[in-house]
Amino acid sequence: MNPALIVLLILISLGLFFAVWCFIEPHFLEVSRINLRTSRGKEGSFTKLGKGPEIQGKADVRLFFFSDIHAEMCYISPERLLGEILKAHKEDAIEAVIFGGDISTSPKKAYKGIEYLSRISKGLKELGIPFYGVTGNHDLEIGASDIERCGFTNLEGQIITLKNVRGKDIVLTGADDSGRYNRVWIEPPHVDQDRINILTIHDPDAIVHIMEKPDFMLSGHLHGGQLKLPFKLVFRLLRSDELPMNGILEGVFEYGRTGMFISRGLGCGTLPIRFLSVPEASIVSIYLENEEDTSND
Ligand SMILES: [Fe+2]
Repeated sequence: MNPALIVLLILISLGLFFAVWCFIEPHFLEVSRINLRTSRGKEGSFTKLGKGPEIQGKADVRLFFFSDIHAEMCYISPERLLGEILKAHKEDAIEAVIFGGDISTSPKKAYKGIEYLSRISKGLKELGIPFYGVTGNHDLEIGASDIERCGFTNLEGQIITLKNVRGKDIVLTGADDSGRYNRVWIEPPHVDQDRINILTIHDPDAIVHIMEKPDFMLSGHLHGGQLKLPFKLVFRLLRSDELPMNGILEGVFEYGRTGMFISRGLGCGTLPIRFLSVPEASIVSIYLENEEDTSND
């Protein structure tokens, strides 16, 4: 056979495999185990830590975090997600479930996201696990009463004390997203320094812009790139996010004094496809350091 024809057939086969795979991948789910510890990072610089440092022993706070359901293009059912939360909770108590925003891609399909999250909320009530969340850039046109129907407590502007560890209050705070265009960075509420602040904010770019950096931050929004193409093509051509241009796309990072996690999210935005960016929900274990641990550095 003509070598050129063989090359052409191989290229067509690879293209077909790529196209089919892109539609299959959104049906998978990785429940990642994420470790966050008090950051020792330098002011203004990012350190990549994969899924976080290896840490032995019991976490000080154990959360379940999921983001970006985009319910009209989410192939992980609420029942499947609840099953994973229950499994994690049986292993060791989950102290809160947190949603990181983007209920639906289109406001016209918001009812699907509201239904999704209210099913999660109902399941969590039965398990006795509190449910918190923030809204994302796609949720701006969803009314407050519809957000309420989702069943999570909106963290926007709130300081909610989750527990007290070794004399320190651990608090949850949040800020909603200001929208898809002409973004304004909403400053989260001020938290006194003697409290440990876990901030949920949809867009991780916020860490560079907000004035008061939290101890920990949970985010989504980037979908792990959704289609991981070479040369950051998706971000160069279609998006204006800042962190991906610096190689910050998903996983655990330290930025100054903040330990942060960026989830790949569950659903798909715009098109129902993913490539090398499997949907993700996460068991987030947070470890606080003793004063002695940090003074030795
Ligand atoms: Fe999203």
